[in-house]
Amino acid sequence: MYFPSYRMRRLRQSEQIRNLVRETDLLPDRLIYPMFVTHGENKRIEMESMPGCYQQSINHLVEEAREVRELGIPGVLLFGIPAEKDDAGTSAYDEEGIIQMAIAALKEEVPELIVITDVCLCEYTSHGHCGIVKDGDVDNDMTLEMLAKTALSHAEAGADIIAPSDMMDGRVAAIRTSLDNEGFINTPIMSYAAKFASAYYGPFREAAESTPEFGDRRSYQMDCRNSDEAVREVLLDIEEGADMVMVKPALPYLDIIYRVKQETKFPLAAYSVSGEYAMIKAAAAKGWLDEKSVVLETMTAIRRAGADTIITYHAKDVASWLK
Ligand code: PBG
Ligand code: ZN
Repeated sequence: MYFPSYRMRRLRQSEQIRNLVRETDLLPDRLIYPMFVTHGENKRIEMESMPGCYQQSINHLVEEAREVRELGIPGVLLFGIPAEKDDAGTSAYDEEGIIQMAIAALKEEVPELIVITDVCLCEYTSHGHCGIVKDGDVDNDMTLEMLAKTALSHAEAGADIIAPSDMMDGRVAAIRTSLDNEGFINTPIMSYAAKFASAYYGPFREAAESTPEFGDRRSYQMDCRNSDEAVREVLLDIEEGADMVMVKPALPYLDIIYRVKQETKFPLAAYSVSGEYAMIKAAAAKGWLDEKSVVLETMTAIRRAGADTIITYHAKDVASWLK
């Protein structure tokens, strides 16, 4: 049937009819809010390129985490900024490290909030790479042991979900084995499975103080020209035991989100990264874009592409707009 007997506009004529046939929902319980925790008391420093996001000490972290929970956001993704860095990133698995203390405080004060922890070494190594550097490059197999130890220390501190972001080969299996051996059989792994070497991480590296001192991350993170490889990365992580897989960044990689969902049908998180946030914030501050409409449209697009969960610095705003 064609025009004039068939008209697409019939189902667009009112808000109620449009809602009745919408294909994609955006709800606060799909969102994860990333947070940065640092040593000290009463510290709360706003990031210049990430307005509204802070490096903060545990007391402020807990305060904001309560607010996150009250907005109906189920979980946070934690990044730690250690007091000291060394070649091997040993403070990443320090029992009294910043992240371990933050996890314990959150589980104590806001127990119903899901605490997801980013497992990587770049915030903890003096050179800023995501693993142990040998002969000018990150040594894959030496790094695995450190990652497994770090993941285990997070679980011991009370982390609900472990999220390895380093992109070493074999890390999901190494982490699963170390968690299982110590009895953490029910701690899920959300792997940063298709993580691209992206210029969109710029603002984050300022916030997490994790810019590599030399070179870049292209010998371990993915090449933005590849899509088949992203599917292979994801399938390998699934075989190694990942419970959820992640695509990162989100907006410039909607095709990857779509493909990974179609080809794996696995629970999929998309990480809308710092640079995506910074672009919208900057344009909105200039009055060039309407922040609320653009953010809601962007989040809906990420869900429509196939993401079950969205990790975003806009989470608090989105949740309050949806209320
Ligand atoms: C650490 C890590 C990074 C991000 C999350 N975990 C940075 C990187 O790989 O350089 C980026 C997050 C963002 O930009 O919001 N490996
Ligand atoms: Zn890293």
